[in-house]
Amino acid sequence: MSGATARAGANVALVKYWGKRDEERNLPAVGSISITLSDLLATARVGMGKEGPRFRSHGVPVSGVAADRMAHYLDWIAGRLGAGAERLCVDVEAGFPVGAGLASSAAIYCATAAASAAAVGASIDRAELSRLARVGSGSAARSVFGGWVEWHRGTREDGEDSGAEQLLPVADWPVALVVAVVHDGPKEVPSRDAMRHVSRTSPLYDGWIEAQEEDLESMRSAIAARDFGAVGRLAEENCLRMHATTFAARPPVFFWLPVTLAVMQAVRQLRADGCEAYFTIDAGPQVKVLCSPERVDRVAGALAGIPGVVRVLRSGLGSGVEILDGSVPWK
Ligand code: PMV
Repeated sequence: MSGATARAGANVALVKYWGKRDEERNLPAVGSISITLSDLLATARVGMGKEGPRFRSHGVPVSGVAADRMAHYLDWIAGRLGAGAERLCVDVEAGFPVGAGLASSAAIYCATAAASAAAVGASIDRAELSRLARVGSGSAARSVFGGWVEWHRGTREDGEDSGAEQLLPVADWPVALVVAVVHDGPKEVPSRDAMRHVSRTSPLYDGWIEAQEEDLESMRSAIAARDFGAVGRLAEENCLRMHATTFAARPPVFFWLPVTLAVMQAVRQLRADGCEAYFTIDAGPQVKVLCSPERVDRVAGALAGIPGVVRVLRSGLGSGVEILDGSVPWK
């Protein structure tokens, strides 16, 4: 019981998780579909100790709300794994900006859940791990699996039917993602606060919920048929519908910057010029662009040239969470 290290990739939803049916257990109001990334990675080292900070980032103690949230989660997962007497601590290292709308919490909480299970010697499967990761950060449920992933809404109150599963492994359809980072600082509104506010005040929220089942169905079919155009169009529509709920909230939540729109426009222009690429945007101003691996250089070059784009990141699809030392707690 000396500790364990796990590594997980961020994931990007093509059909978004937006709204909760249970805040405590992170049960989503809708299902979602994502791709897991190979190049935006977080590593979590979980150990036990009677003293010292519970949450460190690159060895430096984290304080405030993020630290309280992590300590609460570590106590919860220790209890769930039958190691309630253990005081778990975690040191995370993310190879990309944290809290900037790049799905860092998905990678961090997924890696933390996996390392916690390995550290306490639990024996679980990936489906169970997904449900455990979900309680840390909803989208973390999806980073457990590689490639193309669906997280089911579920209907049970205890959340035991709300976890992710793999739709397609990476090798079956390896697409690529280019991220236009347009703002370096932290997000103005954390996703969980924005979701709560929008679901309570936006008159468009009910329409969002109603349309989601059809989007999930169409996206599943488009993925099964490897229809890139259909996947991309659905991803753009679903993203715009999610953001429409935020514009209509009282007061409105506005994640975009002027450069966000400039990047969206450039993606449309790339398409008009014969380079198939599609955008999606989460709870922040960064724009994530889906394309085939052969088009990454052209897409990245076009986005890097837009005034206001700070940096361009590239990623392929990853194969899900891994234990880097110790025995793997799942089959
Ligand atoms: O898992 P959270 O609480 O960081 O929420 C993520 C919400 C979105 O990124 C906006 C959508 C999604 O499905 O990832």
